[in-house]
Amino acid sequence: MCGIVGIISTQSVTKRILTSLKRLEYRGYDSAGISAIKNRKIERCRAAGKLSNLEQALVKQPISGSIGIGHTRWATHGVPSIENAHPHVSGQVAVVHNGIIENYQQLKEELANDGVTMQTETDTEVVAHLANAYLQAGMQPKEMMQALLSKIQGAFALLIMMAQHPDTLLAARKYSPLAIAYGDDEMFLGSDALALAHLSRKISYFEDGDWAIITKDEAKIFNLKNEIVERPSKITDASNKTPDKGKYAHYMEKEINEQPEVIGYTFASYCSPTTGKITLPKFKFCPSELPKLTIVAAGTSFYAGMVAKYWFENLARIPTEVDIASEFRYRNPVLIKNGAALFISQSGESLDTLMAQRYAKENGQNIISLVNVPESTIARESDTVLKTLAGPEISVASTKAFTTQLVTLLTMAVHWGELRGVLSDREAKKITDNLANLPSLLARVLSDDLDWIGASSELALSQDVIYLGRGVNFPIALEGALKLKEISYIHAEGYAAGEMKHGPIALLERGVPVVMVAPHDEWFEKTSSNLKEALARGARVVLLSDDKGIEKLHEAATWIFRMPRVHPILTPILYSLPVQLLAYHTAKEKGTEIDQPRNLAKSVTVE
Ligand code: F6R
Repeated sequence: MCGIVGIISTQSVTKRILTSLKRLEYRGYDSAGISAIKNRKIERCRAAGKLSNLEQALVKQPISGSIGIGHTRWATHGVPSIENAHPHVSGQVAVVHNGIIENYQQLKEELANDGVTMQTETDTEVVAHLANAYLQAGMQPKEMMQALLSKIQGAFALLIMMAQHPDTLLAARKYSPLAIAYGDDEMFLGSDALALAHLSRKISYFEDGDWAIITKDEAKIFNLKNEIVERPSKITDASNKTPDKGKYAHYMEKEINEQPEVIGYTFASYCSPTTGKITLPKFKFCPSELPKLTIVAAGTSFYAGMVAKYWFENLARIPTEVDIASEFRYRNPVLIKNGAALFISQSGESLDTLMAQRYAKENGQNIISLVNVPESTIARESDTVLKTLAGPEISVASTKAFTTQLVTLLTMAVHWGELRGVLSDREAKKITDNLANLPSLLARVLSDDLDWIGASSELALSQDVIYLGRGVNFPIALEGALKLKEISYIHAEGYAAGEMKHGPIALLERGVPVVMVAPHDEWFEKTSSNLKEALARGARVVLLSDDKGIEKLHEAATWIFRMPRVHPILTPILYSLPVQLLAYHTAKEKGTEIDQPRNLAKSVTVE
């Protein structure tokens, strides 16, 4: 999703803006641009496609100045092109924006009536024209911002630069994230701490409705009521190192391979691997009396929530509902008084999830979040925060964040199961012992000489791939299909294995690959009947199972991936690995852009 950066300094800013934009690349984008002010004139350079194109454009058309703004654009209104790339300029104003100006059509009409011609298809351009018109009418920057913010509706993180005020940068935030970092004689603004941590580690976050007038020496922050406010600064935990792929071809491959380690860290942060004693952060309620848990998330994090529903219901007997974040607040959900709502998000910035969280808070729920970015908005607005220690996840397709979410959720369900008297100490210890052993099993799968490339080279030739799973592994079938779609662009669907016969089986014709997530668990016999039904219709089966399952089904499968035997409750974590690896190798075989797939963004900050 769009990333924004701004620097006001005494020294040249262009190179540093470019470095910050590179640190925001992981969010996903399709064009980029930078503006700076030199001799009270706005200079601008933009390029479609990757930042390397912008770098080349800057060689031909260098720009410099001690105040500048930069942007990576993920297209919403208007195709990805140089014209639609930010910064947008009108007269003496340049603007970068993350979000959507919802009333842009109406504003366009008003501007057209005043004789303004639009140059782009974007919603953002109206902001530049309005700001310029207000300044032309004689307003000072502060008055102009107040007028502008009372006019525009929607979601935004905005940075505005004015040629006639080269010592002032303006910023505003509503819903879309924005941070400020404090330097010596310079100030830095960006979409997140990662964009800024290499410039300064002292960071404050804007709250919704905040806007600011920033010079190189100070930031005056105002709230929605235009009162001056203080936003506490902290030393960010975000790494100042520029992420790198190490020995791996892609971030996704690196992140898949990091899983044994980060799962180990995450688990050890909640549970002593030796005693099995689980320590969770404090909740504002008593888990043993909790009447209902509502889990809300998007995409892969939603699938983690689906797995967690099985765990919370089975291990802790808590009535649990799971909702897609973008749907939750629009269906008037029944939220029980004193209930708890758990929001799962790698980035902690997905706007759908954040808006659902605010809705749950307004409706009296105790808010828990499970995030990988502890400084994120979702974390900051929670009553209790659980962290995954996955480290920065750069690949757009989530892998290690998902499995660390699962480990945390299972640990939480076990602990609550004990508190609610559903699990005995012995039963709980059995699961935590297995969790402590899980990293070594994952490492074994990664080092085993399994023929991922053989199966993937066939999957790469397919039009459609079906993923099936049952019970606690049904969400892993959904996640496997999502991973394949995202990075290889092959149409893939995940189904509950038993649901196949109720419709989707019509899709099966000779040769269609069916990936069966089938550990030898309590549902195995039924899953294997579903596999036979697919086989009878000519499907070619990729079997993900263990010794016992493979012994029973090896003749039915074209490709077999042998997983270690593990406690059945843990299988979704272990079986995430083969579905990730199948997707990764298939995409590699197809030669698609694995780390930044087309159309996708890492941090989805629009609704
Ligand atoms: C899939 C993927 C997305 C995210 C979703 C939610 O590989 O990464 O589906 O899971 O956009 O993002 P977070 O977890 O950051 O809220």
